[in-house]
Amino acid sequence: NKIYHFDELESTNEEAKRLAPDEDEGTVIISETQKSGRGRMGRDWTSPRGGIYMSVILKPTIPASHAYHLTLVAGIAVANAIRNLGINACIKWPNDILINNRKVCGILTEINAEIEKIDYIVLGMGINANVDTGMFSSELKEGSTSLKSELGKPVERVSFVQNLLYEFEQEYIKFKSKPFNDIVDEWISLSDTIGKEVSIMTPSKMVEGKAIGVTKNGALIVKKDDGEKEEIIAGRCIYTR
Ligand code: BTN
Repeated sequence: NKIYHFDELESTNEEAKRLAPDEDEGTVIISETQKSGRGRMGRDWTSPRGGIYMSVILKPTIPASHAYHLTLVAGIAVANAIRNLGINACIKWPNDILINNRKVCGILTEINAEIEKIDYIVLGMGINANVDTGMFSSELKEGSTSLKSELGKPVERVSFVQNLLYEFEQEYIKFKSKPFNDIVDEWISLSDTIGKEVSIMTPSKMVEGKAIGVTKNGALIVKKDDGEKEEIIAGRCIYTR
Protein backbone atom coordinates (compact mmCIF):
# COMPACT_ATOMS: atom_id res chain seq x y z
CA ASN A 1 0.00 0.00 0.00
CA LYS A 2 1.06 3.54 -0.67
CA ILE A 3 1.83 5.86 2.21
CA TYR A 4 2.06 9.59 1.48
CA HIS A 5 3.95 11.52 4.11
CA PHE A 6 3.74 15.31 4.27
CA ASP A 7 5.36 17.82 6.53
CA GLU A 8 2.37 20.14 6.50
CA LEU A 9 -1.13 19.99 5.04
CA GLU A 10 -4.35 21.88 5.56
CA SER A 11 -6.00 18.58 6.50
CA THR A 12 -5.12 14.97 5.72
CA ASN A 13 -8.82 14.24 5.16
CA GLU A 14 -8.98 16.96 2.48
CA GLU A 15 -5.82 15.62 0.80
CA ALA A 16 -7.19 12.07 0.98
CA LYS A 17 -10.44 13.16 -0.68
CA ARG A 18 -8.46 14.88 -3.44
CA LEU A 19 -6.34 11.78 -4.07
CA ALA A 20 -9.05 9.15 -3.52
CA PRO A 21 -10.48 8.88 -7.06
CA ASP A 22 -7.07 7.83 -8.41
CA GLU A 23 -5.80 5.76 -5.50
CA ASP A 24 -6.36 2.18 -4.43
CA GLU A 25 -8.05 1.24 -1.21
CA GLY A 26 -5.61 1.26 1.67
CA THR A 27 -3.67 4.35 0.63
CA VAL A 28 -2.58 6.31 3.69
CA ILE A 29 -1.94 10.05 4.03
CA ILE A 30 0.06 11.26 7.03
CA SER A 31 1.10 14.77 7.92
CA GLU A 32 3.38 16.05 10.67
CA THR A 33 1.10 19.00 11.24
CA GLN A 34 -2.17 20.38 9.87
CA LYS A 35 -2.99 24.03 9.31
CA SER A 36 -6.72 23.48 9.47
CA GLY A 37 -7.32 20.06 10.93
CA ARG A 38 -11.00 19.32 11.17
CA GLY A 39 -12.99 17.62 13.89
CA ARG A 40 -16.53 16.36 13.98
CA MET A 41 -19.48 18.70 13.79
CA GLY A 42 -17.56 21.55 12.23
CA ARG A 43 -15.02 21.83 15.03
CA ASP A 44 -11.29 22.36 14.53
CA TRP A 45 -8.72 19.74 15.43
CA THR A 46 -5.64 21.29 17.00
CA SER A 47 -2.70 19.66 15.21
CA PRO A 48 0.70 20.55 16.70
CA ARG A 49 3.86 18.70 15.69
CA GLY A 50 4.42 15.48 17.61
CA GLY A 51 0.88 14.27 17.02
CA ILE A 52 -0.25 11.73 14.44
CA TYR A 53 -2.61 13.01 11.73
CA MET A 54 -3.55 10.28 9.35
CA SER A 55 -6.24 9.43 6.81
CA VAL A 56 -6.92 6.10 5.16
CA ILE A 57 -8.74 5.76 1.82
CA LEU A 58 -11.21 2.87 1.72
CA LYS A 59 -13.43 1.59 -1.07
CA PRO A 60 -15.69 -1.00 0.51
CA THR A 61 -18.67 -2.46 -1.31
CA ILE A 62 -21.23 -1.77 1.41
CA PRO A 63 -24.39 0.32 1.37
CA ALA A 64 -23.67 3.98 2.09
CA SER A 65 -25.94 3.80 5.12
CA HIS A 66 -23.45 1.38 6.70
CA ALA A 67 -20.44 3.65 6.25
CA TYR A 68 -20.47 4.71 9.89
CA HIS A 69 -19.68 1.08 10.81
CA LEU A 70 -16.13 1.89 9.80
CA THR A 71 -15.85 4.41 12.59
CA LEU A 72 -16.34 1.56 15.06
CA VAL A 73 -13.78 -0.55 13.16
CA ALA A 74 -11.23 2.29 13.38
CA GLY A 75 -12.01 2.87 17.06
CA ILE A 76 -11.26 -0.78 17.85
CA ALA A 77 -7.95 -0.58 15.95
CA VAL A 78 -6.80 2.59 17.73
CA ALA A 79 -7.85 1.28 21.15
CA ASN A 80 -5.99 -1.99 20.51
CA ALA A 81 -2.85 -0.21 19.28
CA ILE A 82 -2.82 1.93 22.43
CA ARG A 83 -3.46 -1.11 24.63
CA ASN A 84 -0.46 -2.75 22.95
CA LEU A 85 1.62 0.02 24.54
CA GLY A 86 0.35 -1.15 27.93
CA ILE A 87 -2.10 1.71 28.39
CA ASN A 88 -5.72 1.02 29.20
CA ALA A 89 -7.64 2.84 26.46
CA CYS A 90 -11.43 2.80 26.13
CA ILE A 91 -13.80 3.80 23.36
CA LYS A 92 -16.44 6.42 24.05
CA TRP A 93 -19.37 6.15 21.68
CA PRO A 94 -19.23 6.76 18.83
CA ASN A 95 -15.58 7.52 18.12
CA ASP A 96 -13.47 9.03 20.87
CA ILE A 97 -10.62 7.08 22.36
CA LEU A 98 -10.13 7.87 26.04
CA ILE A 99 -7.47 7.13 28.61
CA ASN A 100 -8.67 7.68 32.18
CA ASN A 101 -11.63 9.62 30.83
CA ARG A 102 -9.49 11.99 28.79
CA LYS A 103 -9.51 12.09 25.03
CA VAL A 104 -6.37 10.91 23.24
CA CYS A 105 -7.79 10.34 19.74
CA GLY A 106 -10.66 11.48 17.56
CA ILE A 107 -11.92 9.87 14.35
CA LEU A 108 -13.59 11.66 11.47
CA THR A 109 -15.22 9.46 8.81
CA GLU A 110 -16.15 11.16 5.57
CA ILE A 111 -18.02 9.47 2.79
CA ASN A 112 -18.38 10.17 -0.89
CA ALA A 113 -21.35 8.29 -2.26
CA GLU A 114 -23.91 8.59 -4.97
CA ILE A 115 -27.33 7.13 -4.20
CA GLU A 116 -26.25 4.37 -1.81
CA LYS A 117 -23.17 3.46 -3.88
CA ILE A 118 -19.92 4.35 -2.14
CA ASP A 119 -17.13 5.83 -4.26
CA TYR A 120 -14.78 6.07 -1.32
CA ILE A 121 -14.59 6.63 2.39
CA VAL A 122 -11.91 8.66 4.12
CA LEU A 123 -11.18 7.64 7.66
CA GLY A 124 -9.28 10.36 9.51
CA MET A 125 -7.55 9.75 12.81
CA GLY A 126 -5.97 12.38 15.00
CA ILE A 127 -3.88 11.03 17.86
CA ASN A 128 -2.29 13.11 20.59
CA ALA A 129 0.98 11.18 20.54
CA ASN A 130 3.94 13.31 21.61
CA VAL A 131 2.09 16.53 22.14
CA ASP A 132 1.84 18.67 25.19
CA THR A 133 -1.89 18.97 25.83
CA GLY A 134 -1.09 21.69 28.37
CA MET A 135 -0.59 23.93 25.31
CA PHE A 136 -4.18 23.36 24.15
CA SER A 137 -6.88 25.96 24.73
CA SER A 138 -8.33 25.80 28.22
CA GLU A 139 -11.52 24.25 26.91
CA LEU A 140 -9.59 21.32 25.39
CA LYS A 141 -6.84 20.99 27.98
CA GLU A 142 -9.03 19.58 30.75
CA GLY A 143 -10.50 16.79 28.69
CA SER A 144 -7.41 15.80 26.71
CA THR A 145 -4.37 13.66 27.27
CA SER A 146 -1.51 12.37 25.14
CA LEU A 147 0.35 9.09 24.79
CA LYS A 148 3.50 10.88 25.95
CA SER A 149 1.98 12.04 29.21
CA GLU A 150 0.38 8.66 29.86
CA LEU A 151 3.63 6.78 29.15
CA GLY A 152 5.85 9.28 30.91
CA LYS A 153 8.05 9.32 27.81
CA PRO A 154 7.61 9.94 24.08
CA VAL A 155 6.06 7.14 22.08
CA GLU A 156 7.98 5.78 19.07
CA ARG A 157 5.58 7.16 16.48
CA VAL A 158 6.73 5.12 13.47
CA SER A 159 6.32 1.75 15.16
CA PHE A 160 3.06 2.93 16.73
CA VAL A 161 1.67 3.83 13.29
CA GLN A 162 2.88 0.50 11.86
CA ASN A 163 1.09 -1.36 14.63
CA LEU A 164 -2.03 0.78 14.26
CA LEU A 165 -2.20 0.06 10.52
CA TYR A 166 -1.69 -3.64 11.25
CA GLU A 167 -4.52 -3.61 13.82
CA PHE A 168 -6.70 -1.69 11.41
CA GLU A 169 -6.08 -4.17 8.59
CA GLN A 170 -6.95 -7.14 10.85
CA GLU A 171 -10.17 -5.44 11.90
CA TYR A 172 -11.06 -4.38 8.35
CA ILE A 173 -10.58 -7.97 7.12
CA LYS A 174 -12.96 -9.15 9.88
CA PHE A 175 -15.39 -6.40 8.92
CA LYS A 176 -15.47 -7.62 5.32
CA SER A 177 -15.66 -11.33 6.08
CA LYS A 178 -17.71 -11.71 9.26
CA PRO A 179 -21.12 -10.57 10.49
CA PHE A 180 -21.02 -7.05 11.86
CA ASN A 181 -22.26 -8.47 15.16
CA ASP A 182 -18.76 -9.76 15.88
CA ILE A 183 -17.33 -6.27 15.48
CA VAL A 184 -20.05 -4.82 17.70
CA ASP A 185 -19.24 -7.37 20.44
CA GLU A 186 -15.57 -6.47 20.24
CA TRP A 187 -16.45 -2.77 20.29
CA ILE A 188 -18.60 -3.26 23.41
CA SER A 189 -15.77 -5.02 25.21
CA LEU A 190 -13.49 -2.03 24.57
CA SER A 191 -16.10 0.63 25.29
CA ASP A 192 -16.77 2.36 28.58
CA THR A 193 -20.06 3.93 27.45
CA ILE A 194 -22.46 1.06 28.21
CA GLY A 195 -23.91 1.46 31.70
CA LYS A 196 -23.15 5.18 31.89
CA GLU A 197 -25.63 8.02 32.28
CA VAL A 198 -25.33 10.01 29.08
CA SER A 199 -26.56 13.13 27.47
CA ILE A 200 -26.46 13.04 23.67
CA MET A 201 -26.84 15.95 21.34
CA THR A 202 -28.06 14.50 18.07
CA PRO A 203 -28.38 16.64 14.95
CA SER A 204 -32.08 17.10 15.77
CA LYS A 205 -32.50 16.85 19.55
CA MET A 206 -31.08 16.10 22.96
CA VAL A 207 -31.46 12.62 24.44
CA GLU A 208 -30.74 11.88 28.11
CA GLY A 209 -30.72 8.58 29.92
CA LYS A 210 -28.64 5.47 30.48
CA ALA A 211 -26.64 3.87 27.68
CA ILE A 212 -27.71 0.23 27.81
CA GLY A 213 -26.32 -1.25 24.63
CA VAL A 214 -25.50 -1.01 20.97
CA THR A 215 -27.66 -2.37 18.16
CA LYS A 216 -26.24 -4.78 15.63
CA ASN A 217 -25.68 -1.70 13.47
CA GLY A 218 -23.65 0.17 16.05
CA ALA A 219 -26.38 2.61 17.08
CA LEU A 220 -26.34 3.45 20.79
CA ILE A 221 -29.41 2.33 22.75
CA VAL A 222 -30.36 4.83 25.43
CA LYS A 223 -33.01 4.12 28.06
CA LYS A 224 -34.60 7.43 28.91
CA ASP A 225 -35.94 8.36 32.33
CA ASP A 226 -39.50 7.66 31.16
CA GLY A 227 -38.40 4.09 30.40
CA GLU A 228 -38.60 4.50 26.66
CA LYS A 229 -35.66 3.25 24.60
CA GLU A 230 -34.13 5.21 21.79
CA GLU A 231 -31.56 4.17 19.18
CA ILE A 232 -29.09 6.87 18.21
CA ILE A 233 -26.87 6.71 15.15
CA ALA A 234 -24.94 9.96 15.49
CA GLY A 235 -24.39 12.64 18.04
CA ARG A 236 -22.13 14.13 20.63
CA CYS A 237 -22.05 12.13 23.83
CA ILE A 238 -21.35 13.49 27.30
CA TYR A 239 -21.13 11.35 30.43
CA THR A 240 -23.31 13.02 33.01
CA ARG A 241 -22.26 11.05 36.05
C1 BTN B 1 -13.15 14.52 16.42
O1 BTN B 1 -13.77 15.59 16.36
O2 BTN B 1 -13.07 13.89 17.47
C2 BTN B 1 -12.50 13.95 15.18
C3 BTN B 1 -11.12 14.51 14.96
C4 BTN B 1 -10.43 13.95 13.73
C5 BTN B 1 -9.09 14.59 13.45
C6 BTN B 1 -8.34 13.93 12.34
S1 BTN B 1 -6.66 14.45 12.23
C7 BTN B 1 -6.47 13.64 10.70
C8 BTN B 1 -7.75 13.88 9.93
N1 BTN B 1 -7.67 15.13 9.18
C9 BTN B 1 -8.52 16.05 9.65
O3 BTN B 1 -8.64 17.22 9.21
N2 BTN B 1 -9.24 15.53 10.67
C10 BTN B 1 -8.88 14.14 10.93
